[in-house]
Amino acid sequence: MYKILKKEVLNPTVTKMVIDAPHVAKRAKAGQFIILRVHDEGERIPLTIADSDPDSGEVTIIFQIVGKTTMLLNELEEDASLADFVGPLGQPSEIEGEKVCVIGGGVGCAIAYPTAKAFAKAGSDVTTISGFRNKDLVILEDEFKAVSDAYYLMSDDGSAGEKGLVTQKLEELIQSGEKFDKVIAIGPVIMMKFVCEVTKKYGIPTIVSMNPIMIDGTGMCGGCRLKVGDEIKFACVDGPDFDGHAVDFDGAMSRNRAYGDFERHERDAACR
Ligand code: FES
Repeated sequence: MYKILKKEVLNPTVTKMVIDAPHVAKRAKAGQFIILRVHDEGERIPLTIADSDPDSGEVTIIFQIVGKTTMLLNELEEDASLADFVGPLGQPSEIEGEKVCVIGGGVGCAIAYPTAKAFAKAGSDVTTISGFRNKDLVILEDEFKAVSDAYYLMSDDGSAGEKGLVTQKLEELIQSGEKFDKVIAIGPVIMMKFVCEVTKKYGIPTIVSMNPIMIDGTGMCGGCRLKVGDEIKFACVDGPDFDGHAVDFDGAMSRNRAYGDFERHERDAACR
């Protein structure tokens, strides 16, 4: 059993939990994820490791309440325990680049933060752009500022930071002369697709963190398959980071929508 040591509501739909999981904390690296089950008969869901401390054995997860399982997870309080907490899974992010731009969209910032932190620790010059729909959804602003040489906050309605999209800020920075070795985009698939359209135009290598449906997390079920260039890749073992200029984003979006009705039905049934 894995005890919830701390719980913090970051915004009305996003919660942070610190879990006692020493064997995960000991080996976790930026970009990796865990798969958890809330109870013995529960669904397995993948969540990226937002932070970890090998000394205390603590692993931080940040999740958005979108379906039945995240709803049940959010109902648990400190001192309650999770049935399973398996990881770290996936390939760690490649932390190389003198001057990098890390872009996070919405709850994707929970993944972008450990990535920005790892680049900062490796001595890279880190520019971070984070984007949200409005001020009520902003998360990790202080944490990003602490690890970034430059930080830009964007919101769709202008209620936090500057009004506009992360892609507009990225293009503005590139046009003003910023020379990024690499861009790392993490967030909704549609956001990552448009970031890649901008960076392709300027020839900047771009890594995206893909978040397809996952079941076993070990490369056996094929649930997380993606087309990357001419190859089929499994996000759980080959990723979740991929060359954004080679990913078939339209195919990924269509697969992510495949179980939408079923997920809504399960969530509504759990609410009754
Ligand atoms: Fe089953 Fe990746 S989750 S192959």
